[in-house]
Amino acid sequence: MPKDFTEMENSNRSANPSIHEVSDPARRLWLRGTAGAAVAAVFGPSLAGLAGCAATGPSGLATSGPRLGFQSVPPSRADAIVVPPGYVAAVLAPWGEPIGVPGRMPPWRSDASHSADDQAVQMGMHHDGLHFFPIEGSSTRGLLVMNHEYTDEGLLHGPGKADSPEGVRKSQAAHGVSVIEVALRNGQWDMVRPSPLARRFTAYSPFRVAGPAAGHALMRTAFDPEGRTVLGTLNNCASGRTPWGTYLSGEENFAFYFSGGDNTTKDQARWGLPKKAFYAWPNHDARFDATRHPNEFHRFGWVVEIDPMDPTSTPVKRTALGRAAHEGAWVAVTKDGRAVVYSGEDARFEYIYKFVSRDRIAPAGNGLTAAQANRELLDHGTLYVARFNADGTGRWLPLVHGQGPLTAANGFADQGEVVIRTRQASDLLGATKMDRPEWIAIDHQSRWVYCTLTNNTQRGQPDKPGPDAANPRANNAMGQIIRWQEDGDFDGPTMRWSHLLLAGDPGNTRPDARGNVQGDFFGCPDGLAFDSRGVLWIQTDAHATQMNKGEFERIGNNQMLGCDVATGEVRRFLTGPVNCEITGVALTPDQSTMFINVQHPGETPSDISRADAPQLYSSWPDKAHGRPRSATVVIRRQDGGAIGT
Ligand code: FEO
Ligand code: CA
Ligand code: CA
Repeated sequence: MPKDFTEMENSNRSANPSIHEVSDPARRLWLRGTAGAAVAAVFGPSLAGLAGCAATGPSGLATSGPRLGFQSVPPSRADAIVVPPGYVAAVLAPWGEPIGVPGRMPPWRSDASHSADDQAVQMGMHHDGLHFFPIEGSSTRGLLVMNHEYTDEGLLHGPGKADSPEGVRKSQAAHGVSVIEVALRNGQWDMVRPSPLARRFTAYSPFRVAGPAAGHALMRTAFDPEGRTVLGTLNNCASGRTPWGTYLSGEENFAFYFSGGDNTTKDQARWGLPKKAFYAWPNHDARFDATRHPNEFHRFGWVVEIDPMDPTSTPVKRTALGRAAHEGAWVAVTKDGRAVVYSGEDARFEYIYKFVSRDRIAPAGNGLTAAQANRELLDHGTLYVARFNADGTGRWLPLVHGQGPLTAANGFADQGEVVIRTRQASDLLGATKMDRPEWIAIDHQSRWVYCTLTNNTQRGQPDKPGPDAANPRANNAMGQIIRWQEDGDFDGPTMRWSHLLLAGDPGNTRPDARGNVQGDFFGCPDGLAFDSRGVLWIQTDAHATQMNKGEFERIGNNQMLGCDVATGEVRRFLTGPVNCEITGVALTPDQSTMFINVQHPGETPSDISRADAPQLYSSWPDKAHGRPRSATVVIRRQDGGAIGT
């Protein structure tokens, strides 16, 4: 999430007293242990392998040797990637590289003069969540699927070009999701171009709407009277991979793309609809003018599902999972084979959700791939929102029409309206308002689920919720990682919870920025994923503006750290270039290659003005060309061994 969006959210919240009136206080799926065995039994070993199956989990790893077998790297303010001795890092697929659509491979131009049509077949901007989909189980060839969360208009266009039909089209084309084919050849990973599987999904690509909101009156617009086809996905943040081989992507801060004018409704205000959009889109694409087309606003904020292996597939917005500022979505599997999708929304004082599918995950067969056999799985089930009690217990509150207060009398006509107005429904149920839930990581063997709560400097401010047990710090500049274990299986209605850690420098003189991290400290956890050995990888997204200068200098540039959840030890593995965010992590099945993304290197205090001086803060990764570019980074050991051992 860029600093400017954070501030915009801040201003929206301040102007929105209705938010706090009512309530008080699933990327890589690692199939492990019994759950992995159950899924292997359903799908056979090939699909279990596709899902990253490994035989061991954290508790089993206590006997499997050193967990964190790399040398810690120090904090850094260098405009470079730094990895431990014995490791190498290489750049792959930066913004603007052609993705490899056959016959359409316009080259990157360092003055960013490429057109909107060019951009639609090039890597989008500001890479975020990503996943590696092996081709036939390979660790040397597969698809990388990744999100492009937002654009920095000062870098994307020449000066003065953003507010034009072509500029808006280019900005929309730089959003969305990329599917690229990659291969390890002669010791180096590179894009396979052309590739018949290379695809871009942009802010104007067609998406099918499925689930309770499909066709709902609140989803119908002048452009789509049926309410079943939305053009575009946007602000795609984190990602998850399903056991049936698809990619899930969260539409995070969608509200800022719309202009609401002077007279927003209470419902619109609850979602932070701004008076004026962050970008110029409403000036040239009427869909984003909510004063004229208010229902278009309901058509974003969903989890989208993409089948990357089928280049003819239409992606789907899964409305049964609820509308929210979804960071991403992550799938667990119950012992009887149903999908449980965890999701949080990255916004201050918003919620954590889980969805339990009605049906079991179906195996491939009868001419259908697993993705095709499960194309309606996420359309039927029960959505819940989390309440974390002060005594360390918690409860999942059903977001079901007709149950409790979710009735027509309270403004919810049907289940479609419950999922479209998920936040309002969660308010009524008394769910816990969290400190910006980001990524979720699932340990299938122990059944502990981990979630980063990145920060919330408004916690405890006047007229804002104060600290509670799950969000214990006022002026929370550093964030924490919470974890819970369901009572019974993943579909259980109650849970126990605790904190893995509170982030921050333990030696900080400011008590609310002091952490309890054992080992290398950090601020603002965001990306989070287990590898198949059970190492929990933590990625950070801290902004200098949220910290005192000395604090920021001690923590350094954003980074990635490995955590042994059995002992709590945290060790810094990688530091990124100046003013970037480290996000997205995926490994090949043999663990010999790790892919991560570097987002917004050189982010400035006011990005829009950067057109005249693009390399003011960073020129990573093309030192000679200047304009900083988000990019994927490929990390390998010089000896070819498994990462982190
Ligand atoms: Fe897009 Fe929540 O970071
Ligand atoms: Ca973030
Ligand atoms: Ca994030």
